[in-house]
Amino acid sequence: MASHTLVWEEKQLMKQLMLEQLLNRQEKLAVIGLGYVGLPIALEFAKKMDVVGFDINQERVDLMNNGVDPSKELDASAFENKSIQFTANPEDLRDVSFYVVAVPTPINKFNTPNLNALLSATRTVGNVLSKGDYVVYESTVYPGCTEEDCLPILEELSGLKLNEDFKLGFSPERINPGDKKHTLTKITKVVSGSDEASLKVISDVYASIIEAGVHEASSIKVAEAAKIIENTQRDVNIALMNELSVIFNKMDIPTYEVLEAAGTKWNFLNFYPGLVGGHCIGVDPYYLTYKASSIGYNPEVILSGRRINDSMPEYVAKEVVKSLIEKDKPLKNARILVKGITFKENVADIRNSKAAELVLALQEYFKQVDVVDLHADAEEVKHEYGIELGEESGKYDVIIFAVSHEQYNSITPNQLHEFATDDVLLFDLKNIFKGNFNGIPCWTL
Ligand SMILES: NC(=O)c1ccc[n+]([C@@H]2O[C@H](COP(=O)([O-])OP(=O)(O)OC[C@H]3O[C@@H](n4cnc5c(N)ncnc54)[C@H](O)[C@@H]3O)[C@@H](O)[C@H]2O)c1
Repeated sequence: MASHTLVWEEKQLMKQLMLEQLLNRQEKLAVIGLGYVGLPIALEFAKKMDVVGFDINQERVDLMNNGVDPSKELDASAFENKSIQFTANPEDLRDVSFYVVAVPTPINKFNTPNLNALLSATRTVGNVLSKGDYVVYESTVYPGCTEEDCLPILEELSGLKLNEDFKLGFSPERINPGDKKHTLTKITKVVSGSDEASLKVISDVYASIIEAGVHEASSIKVAEAAKIIENTQRDVNIALMNELSVIFNKMDIPTYEVLEAAGTKWNFLNFYPGLVGGHCIGVDPYYLTYKASSIGYNPEVILSGRRINDSMPEYVAKEVVKSLIEKDKPLKNARILVKGITFKENVADIRNSKAAELVLALQEYFKQVDVVDLHADAEEVKHEYGIELGEESGKYDVIIFAVSHEQYNSITPNQLHEFATDDVLLFDLKNIFKGNFNGIPCWTL
């Protein structure tokens, strides 16, 4: 009984100590990797405690020091009245005791995990880790990665032992770029820890900033798996919609009308066809399939979903060719306009953009494919895809609304006819115009 009480008291003390010391500014919290995920979390913690924001990219650090978010999600006011030091110098991490790692976890060209940034950030932390510290990963990974790939590096470089000397945790990020409603503090945060005591500490530290509350997962692997299946579930469901769209297009049945009708049933799920790009939904399932294959299971449903979603740009490009042929329009000199190149609506992010892949696929068939986008950075697009962004010029035979940027909703017939031939073919991949733009039928997915 006595020893039980002691352990409990010890736990209570540890718990109070870390959060209290952070709030009293006796200890510091650091965020490693200040991108779409890391910067908002660092700024949120910096409302309440002293934060070190570390990033290897000095140019990005300079921008943040001037109150500019390099990812263009936050405005200057987000940087005001925050206790945060932006730095690219790992030495500034030495007196930190709570580390949050939020670096990219992309895939390589063979669709397998590229852990370079994650392991490099882990080495940075391992070199400065000291007794009593916490390390919490937020980067999306396959179940097992935190304990099997990152932990050995932390232990080796620091000479410290997990749970005896330092604690480990995983807390996946769920923010949705461009979404002004489901922002960081308004989404329930899943937290996990390497033992019961650390779970409580990590849970309390996050609960101090997350209004929506935290969900305590029973283990690090459970938290890792939860994140990966959220995006895998979306990916597979969208793949089903894309497959239905291919079938219904062949049968001249408007897919969106079918979905509207089916959606009147109470348990029909709300998914639509579309181009699945970006760094999450199209990437995370490959982390799971990689892990599944490594333990001898060949995932079939997940991978076929991935194949279908990855094939959609080429499918749309072929549909453009078919539509021109059906309308007896000359293919060779057809002028094509693509509106939108970012990976989704209302963001500047072009990573893994399927709209960009659509442009590249169209360039295989047509000489003149012009691309416009009000959010994307022209230099970045050129660098990433070799595609020139420009303005509309002249009249186009085919106009493809590839991304549903908000501004496209209010386009008027007069505005459209400024850059459309009289018998223009409209492709509206996101169903902005519900099948018809001022009497012009629209091809939709
Ligand atoms: N963007 C999202 O909406 C989102 C949502 C949920 C989860 N995630 C996951 O969060 C993680 C981070 O994604 P992101 O979109 O914020 O990435 P990002 O590319 O926007 O930003 C990553 C930042 O990390 C920096 N960086 C790279 N290597 C580093 C290193 N070794 N040390 C320090 N800094 C380093 C980069 O310079 C960059 O500033 C990924 O695992 C991603 O899958 C992202």
